[in-house]
Amino acid sequence: MPSSLTALGPCEDSQRLLEPFIAAVGDYALLLLDQDGHVLSWNRGAELISGYPAGEVLGRRLSCLYLPEDVAAGKAEYVLEVAFHSGRHEEIGERVRKNGSRFLANVLTTAIPGADGRPIGFGIIMRDITARPAEDLVKARAARLRSLIDTVLDTVVDGLVTIDSHGVIQSYNKACVSLFGYAVEEVLGRNVNMLMPAPDRGEHDRYASTTPETGMAKIIGAGREVMGRRKDGSTFPMELAVGELPQGGNQAFVGIIRDLTERREAEKQRDQLRQAQKMEAVGQLTGGLAHDFNNLLAIIIGNLDLLREIRQDDLVTEELVRDALESALRGADLTRRLLAFARLQPLQPERADINAVIGGIVKLLTRTLGENIAIELALSPTVWPVQIDRAQFEAAIANLATNARDAMPKGGTLLIDTRNGQLDEAYAAAHSEVIPGDYVVIELRDSGGGMPSEILARIFEPFFTTKEQGKGTGLGLSMVFGFMKQSGGHITVHSEPEKGTTFRLFLPRLDAVALVQGERSTKPAWRGGSETVLVVEDNAGLRRIVVRQLSEAGYHVLQAPDAAVAMGLIEGPVPIHLLLSDIVMPGDMDGRDLARAAARRRPAINVLLTSGFPDARIPGPGARSPGSRLLIKPYRKEELLRAVREAIDDPI
Ligand SMILES: Nc1ncnc2c1ncn2[C@@H]1O[C@H](COP(=O)(O)OP(=O)(O)OP(=O)(O)O)[C@@H](O)[C@H]1O
Ligand SMILES: [Mg+2]
Repeated sequence: MPSSLTALGPCEDSQRLLEPFIAAVGDYALLLLDQDGHVLSWNRGAELISGYPAGEVLGRRLSCLYLPEDVAAGKAEYVLEVAFHSGRHEEIGERVRKNGSRFLANVLTTAIPGADGRPIGFGIIMRDITARPAEDLVKARAARLRSLIDTVLDTVVDGLVTIDSHGVIQSYNKACVSLFGYAVEEVLGRNVNMLMPAPDRGEHDRYASTTPETGMAKIIGAGREVMGRRKDGSTFPMELAVGELPQGGNQAFVGIIRDLTERREAEKQRDQLRQAQKMEAVGQLTGGLAHDFNNLLAIIIGNLDLLREIRQDDLVTEELVRDALESALRGADLTRRLLAFARLQPLQPERADINAVIGGIVKLLTRTLGENIAIELALSPTVWPVQIDRAQFEAAIANLATNARDAMPKGGTLLIDTRNGQLDEAYAAAHSEVIPGDYVVIELRDSGGGMPSEILARIFEPFFTTKEQGKGTGLGLSMVFGFMKQSGGHITVHSEPEKGTTFRLFLPRLDAVALVQGERSTKPAWRGGSETVLVVEDNAGLRRIVVRQLSEAGYHVLQAPDAAVAMGLIEGPVPIHLLLSDIVMPGDMDGRDLARAAARRRPAINVLLTSGFPDARIPGPGARSPGSRLLIKPYRKEELLRAVREAIDDPI
């Protein structure tokens, strides 16, 4: 009767037929549920299969068909939930009839979309398959097991991928979706090498093609660390354990994947912290040592200066003294480098245009590096100004350039470029002492031999050198490191054997407000005087020299080994023009306390403090005591006399 069917025509006619058809179907239970799961329609098939007449289920939920344990586990709700979100749910599962007997049902639940696409109800097609042939039942059980396995696989937190012997992906669980960023449909049937970055891909193909005898067997069982590749192309470290899945004579594999990103990140941070702590500890040790050396060298240099003057007519003595002085000054230079590493070097920061500074030393560098090495400059004309001790910065660049030269014995290129940049919050969080913000970046890139990671990890340590004895002190980079930190900056290095080395120096941008116009002190020639100077110094050797040098320059000198004795003199009758005191002293009062107490007693007194440490690192309130100058040890006679003269003539 096709003609009469066609004659029935469009929609309303098929609607008219639909309901009686559904009601009449006897082999399938066809039901409609509303959005909340209440039964709206219940056909003859549903009655026949379940034994419930429509009147007993309409308007109620479907739980009467479920086994008690499934009801307890909320299975009816779970099925609707899945269908609601993914459109459908299909399973082969046991159900229970009105009379309590059980049957095996194939149930397909479909969400019915409304005008806006969101489900407005559900349609269910259920078939009793208990009586189907044994083979069907086996298949049904297998399907059921499969759906159970899928549920389990999707619930585990580790990524699970199964592949066949050709590496074709057969299954890929939910955890993998979030690990790799690919949806299931995007990977099924494709080769697993899409989940690996380039260098591992080939290796994997090789493994797969030589399975099962050789390749894959090697990695079966034990977990190993490999890199994974996400959909966006980024890579991440992962632990991969591989197991074999015999599949009807064919070899297949299951890979269990655990993301190691967080663990690696935590390890990296721990290492960085350990390294920073080590540098800090070495810095403190070095700083203390350098301070003591300074005192010793001050005595040696002072005595030699005096000796030279006393015996200036004796040529032999003069020569011996000159040699001794030279060595002592070299010692002082070494000490200064150690202080630089310990961030205790006295600095004279001033506003600087980094391009101009670099431009200024290139000539010198060209000469030092020799003809075989080309220096290329790429200086951004818009770099922000910075505040830096110019001389020390030049020394740092010279140090880095010398290292580059040593790494390029056969010649090469040293590229120096400058640009503006930022260190962000995330970077600062991962690197102790880095403050996020704007930085001027100075990059030195050489085409030399580079370094392996064991060396790279140690290059900033004082006395670490790979150069032959007598060639390098191993203090060059330590100095640069300490100097950068002391200047509020940061230094990074990237290097690989045979791929050259890149150092980046980050100097904080000088903003207009913080601009401090540092002026280099003009240094007039020294001369003596006849005023009274009170010398307070706990080191007897040093005190003797200072007293002698000042006395010889014409000053009237009083002396005290500590603050208590000094206060006695200050409170006495003799007028004192200048208090020259060490800062770090034993006893209750240090040099700063003494300076303050002296100023209270004698408001007109001038103060000159001396120390082996620069100002900023000395404990005590305020950067500088009021009305005081600072002379850094060890100092030469001329420096002492100049500072004393300035302190008396030009009090601050
Ligand atoms: N550009 C570079 N290329 C390759 N290796 C480098 C580079 N810069 C530094 N190094 C390595 O770092 C080590 C330490 O460098 P550092 O400047 O602190 O000391 P040094 O150069 O050995 O001695 P000094 O600087 O006192 O002459 C060097 O011995 C070298 O192994
Ligand atoms: Mg060096």
